Amino acid sequence: MIETRELTKRYDGFTAVDRVSLSVAEGQFAVLLGPSGSGKTTLLRMLNRMVEPTSGTVLVNGQDTAGMQAEALRRSMGYVIQSTGLFPNMTIRRNVATVPRLLGWDRRRTDKRVDEMLELVGLDAKTYGPKRPDELSGGEAQRVGVARALAADPPVLLMDEPFGAVDPITREHLQIEMKRIQRDLRKTVVFVTHDIDEAVLLADSIALLRNGQVQQSGTPEDLWRRPANDFVRDFFGENLGLRIMARHCLSDVELDALPPDDSWHTLPAIVHGATLKEALAELVGTGAERLVVTVDGTPKGTADFASLMRALSAGVQCADGVRTGRGRDA
Ligand SMILES: Nc1ncnc2c1ncn2[C@@H]1O[C@H](COP(=O)(O)OP(=O)(O)OP(=O)(O)O)[C@@H](O)[C@H]1O
Ligand SMILES: [Mg+2]
Repeated sequence: MIETRELTKRYDGFTAVDRVSLSVAEGQFAVLLGPSGSGKTTLLRMLNRMVEPTSGTVLVNGQDTAGMQAEALRRSMGYVIQSTGLFPNMTIRRNVATVPRLLGWDRRRTDKRVDEMLELVGLDAKTYGPKRPDELSGGEAQRVGVARALAADPPVLLMDEPFGAVDPITREHLQIEMKRIQRDLRKTVVFVTHDIDEAVLLADSIALLRNGQVQQSGTPEDLWRRPANDFVRDFFGENLGLRIMARHCLSDVELDALPPDDSWHTLPAIVHGATLKEALAELVGTGAERLVVTVDGTPKGTADFASLMRALSAGVQCADGVRTGRGRDA
């Protein structure tokens, strides 16, 4: 879907992006990760020609973007940034309607689309539609940013640290919702972050950059099990295994049957949508050897440490790609 070949950007002798060759398949969630100044934003902006490459090629569906009209290319890729870039003097409705209006959609189609997009990101259109960006919280503004980028239904979304400015709890909500939206709508997403947790949670594939060069690209599991060099290993640090566990859910664990007697009643319970990391924390926190796993409040079976490890090595990600619940039953 998107491929870069030896893509390079130089500024007065300084190389910001250095011969980057990457490919992102259709429907993939690709993350560009790396320290500040490593070239992530520059690389992202070359994909839609907001920055013109010094050399190298960007192909979209096999077509060289150098020969495309830059404006049409940009409209085929929704763009979301940290500061949201919402137009401050326009209502939320007008903001979300920006690209449909540019494309000349009629009023009814645009209105309908705006309602759908606000609903998709969890904002009530009646309440939020007439507001202006300065009347929103940071998290709400980010949602509007995502709704606006999706409004004209572009096949590709480019996102540059979109959730950088919100508090950790809102941020996690936005991340999980973003993943759901991406799966539901089958968008190809290229997402820039320097946050390792965010990258590992969201990515189908990660490209780790340093000084404009890709150090390694692959699934988070690949980078964890087979780091290409010391920089990759050190960048992710010791907690990567735990972070990877947060990508996998109890719903993917093969459960042991409930014992026929009532002995399991004393075991701690956990919902099947919880992540393996949450399940591990529950085992460690309670000191129990097993957990009872529940679906809609009904016990379905039990899991111990070994079952978590088996699920992890099987490598399946949460079946629906989204966590369906967390920790104990409420
Ligand atoms: N227009 C420009 N002119 C000169 N140098 C630039 C320009 N844009 C970026 N650079 C340099 O290129 C390097 C990469 O910048 P870039 O913005 O791509 O980094 P980044 O990985 O997105 O960093 P951050 O995480 O801080 O956003 C930096 O050293 C930056 O100073
Ligand atoms: Mg940047």
